[in-house]
Amino acid sequence: MFVSVIIPAAGFGERMGATINKQFLLLDGKPILVHTLERFQLCEAVDEIIVATQKSSFPLIEEITRTFSLTKVKPPVEGGQRRQDSIFNAMNTIDEKADIISVHDAVRPFVHMKEITQSIETAKFYGASVVAVRAKDTMKRATTDGRVQETLNRSALWSVQTPQTFQRKILFDAYANAEKEHISATDDSFLVEQLGISPIIVEGSYENIKITTPDDLLMAELLLKRFVP
Ligand code: CTP
Ligand code: MG
Repeated sequence: MFVSVIIPAAGFGERMGATINKQFLLLDGKPILVHTLERFQLCEAVDEIIVATQKSSFPLIEEITRTFSLTKVKPPVEGGQRRQDSIFNAMNTIDEKADIISVHDAVRPFVHMKEITQSIETAKFYGASVVAVRAKDTMKRATTDGRVQETLNRSALWSVQTPQTFQRKILFDAYANAEKEHISATDDSFLVEQLGISPIIVEGSYENIKITTPDDLLMAELLLKRFVP
């Protein structure tokens, strides 16, 4: 079994509003991306890691790879306009031996080893898996002008994170279908669902936040103090 991991890291971090792309902001002196890459480097089930990033960041990725001895990280791949395009570009360079492809956001450094391995094991067996946590807040459906229409049943709701892991053919079929049907999504699982496949949920942890806005960065500094991979 050969497992490839794709790390989309080509975003501009508009909601973070920093002067550099948020995946390169430092957390305890190390770029966020390095924290994330180390999680996968240390996971025995992972064979190779492909980072999709802007061309201007290639030298930085190569430097990071050397400095932190990230031996599983392959030469970077150019990202695209949408997250989906970045992932597709990376998919086209994965090792031909790969049976399993796992996708994980560059800006989720607090993923646990257990979530990575369970996500891979579940996808091996069932075809597709998504790491998710139970919704904490009561969720309501509303009209675009903010009028509540319905209160949803919280026990059936999950907040979806990454990793999201797939058997190779399922992910390639999902992306081919998305291209054909002009489907755009920030969630790979959604593209797989369009094939009529139901990914299996792997229950994860609330620590696995996506660093999106400046308040997430504050939270990340706190989480780092007590994080156990
Ligand atoms: N991403 C990517 N290619 C894009 C857009 C996003 O590889 N064209 C990556 C980001 O680098 C990030 C992950 O997808 O690791 C999740 O996206 P998000 O949190 O939305 O990051 P950004 O797009 O950078 O942020 P924003 O939407 O605020 O601009
Ligand atoms: Mg984005």
